[in-house]
Amino acid sequence: MSLAIITDPSKLLEVVNQQKAAGRQVGLVPTMGALHAGHLSLVQQSTLGTDFTVVTIFVNPTQFAPTEDLDQYPRDLQRDVELLSGYGVDVVFAPSVNSMYPAGASTSIVPPEVARPLEGELRPGHFEGVATIVLKLFNLVPADVAFFGQKDFQQTRVIADMIRDLNIPIDMKVCPIVREADGLALSSRNAYLTPEQRQQATAISQSLFHIKTLVAEGQTDASELLKAALQILADAAIGQIDYVSLVDPQTLTPVTQVSDNTIALAAAYVGSTRLIDNLFLN
Ligand code: PAF
Repeated sequence: MSLAIITDPSKLLEVVNQQKAAGRQVGLVPTMGALHAGHLSLVQQSTLGTDFTVVTIFVNPTQFAPTEDLDQYPRDLQRDVELLSGYGVDVVFAPSVNSMYPAGASTSIVPPEVARPLEGELRPGHFEGVATIVLKLFNLVPADVAFFGQKDFQQTRVIADMIRDLNIPIDMKVCPIVREADGLALSSRNAYLTPEQRQQATAISQSLFHIKTLVAEGQTDASELLKAALQILADAAIGQIDYVSLVDPQTLTPVTQVSDNTIALAAAYVGSTRLIDNLFLN
């Protein structure tokens, strides 16, 4: 079957329900477009593991604060569709803002506790917007499996807890971060970086990998590890560091001593571009 582009939410639900009625396993890959190899790895997992893959491309306005990059966010549907057509995707859902948020739409999801720290503190309202659009997408694509990237680790925790708390009958798979050869985590926002900033940005993943190396060498004291990571960011002249944090991946609460189960998370600005990254220390 060739790739269909659907813009109408009710048409999407109809098509997905037909597939489910025919006994096919449906995979959902929610994205905001500007697709890169990280997204394509999710798509590959879906096409490998299910019979019918829906990729959604929607730059969701409710997860951006007024001061953030909603207007600049890269949009190139034609390029994204061309890319996906080589990957066995069945449907690209690319709705308008109005069809997803018709006039008068005023219901939103109160995200779970794990939405509070880190990104939640720095980007008030962000996870409310994410949880709301993801639930809407789950309703429009009652998939068997939904695929998300570990790059947005806190987002995956928010969605996992929402699935649990609201009894959503969807299995969630979190797929590994895809990195450039020098370690930079792939992100649609990397497109904003000048060549010089692109170079500077590698300090973010370097700081996390350095923590991992120190842990492998026996250091477990979180404050020592964070000091070393912050030094790497300072050496690279990273101006604003929102956080480098060592947390329990379930609760996202900071640890004082790292264990096999700790995750390191970082968010920092390179120029005016805010980048995030994370790394499990085991
Ligand atoms: O990770 C993203 O691209 C977005 O936050 C998502 C999950 C598609 C919701 O808009």
